[in-house]
Amino acid sequence: MTVLQVCPLLPSLEEALRANYKIVDEPSSEVVAAITSSRYGVTHDQMDAMPSLRAIVHFGVGYETTDVASARSRGIVVSNTPDVLTDCVADLAVGGLIDVLRRLSAADRFVRRGDWLSDQFPLAVKVTGRRVGILGLGRIGRAIAHRLAAFDCVLSYHSRHQVADVPYAYADSPVALAEGADVLVVATSGGPATAGLVSAPVLAALGPAGYLVNIARGSVVDEPALVEALVSGTIAGAALDVFADEPNVPPALLGLDNVVLLPHIASATTETREAMGELAFRNLHQFMTDGTLVTPVP
Ligand code: 8YV
Repeated sequence: MTVLQVCPLLPSLEEALRANYKIVDEPSSEVVAAITSSRYGVTHDQMDAMPSLRAIVHFGVGYETTDVASARSRGIVVSNTPDVLTDCVADLAVGGLIDVLRRLSAADRFVRRGDWLSDQFPLAVKVTGRRVGILGLGRIGRAIAHRLAAFDCVLSYHSRHQVADVPYAYADSPVALAEGADVLVVATSGGPATAGLVSAPVLAALGPAGYLVNIARGSVVDEPALVEALVSGTIAGAALDVFADEPNVPPALLGLDNVVLLPHIASATTETREAMGELAFRNLHQFMTDGTLVTPVP
């Protein structure tokens, strides 16, 4: 029952792993399962070095860091941790949206600098009733839409496929979505299929009064184009929880007051991280018991 732990994990999960399995930190022919996070996945080289590997368990909903097709062709099953983090990620998307439109972080800096003593903070942008376009209407995108409906936002979306059971308008391309929205919220999965979907033309379509919120993956946005759009006023602002090369944030963004910068914390609450840890452990445990997974990736 040898398990490769690819990266540091939640302390309670590490404890449960050590209590139940032989945990190693180097690939070998003994390893039958690997546990990793969305950030690290399992590389081809690591798979090559573990001929007995039969399961890859991810802590996180994203799994684009593991080549699932290649894993499958080697007879390796793959799991992630969907659903348990949906609420927190959607909460943070709405929090980022409100922050960047109402300029909460900028206002906080204004007070801390002592500027309130001699100045008025500039007026911000109303959230209620705003037109919001959601890119990717999966579980998280739907949860964001559900929350924003309570703000009377006018919702539209673009996904690979039109969704039958939602009342939101469908836009047939990211550009069309951005054209009809004041705020574009990115909620797609990562990986090659969505890389660069938010391109310079999409940002131009969002326009000088438009805002971008990204809680998905940095790879979905053409980051140099986004930096250029924010610096030049092509769009009004952004709230970003994810970046192309985390933890490196483009230096040009650090000085911009119209950008909310977050260190990839959308799922980072005690409750949600514990739930993710429990689900990851249940996947591993069930695999070790009967060879199946609780939440295999689609
Ligand atoms: C975590 C995430 O930060 O679930 C995901 O895909 O990006 C986040 O919940 C990540 O899993 C931790 O590595």
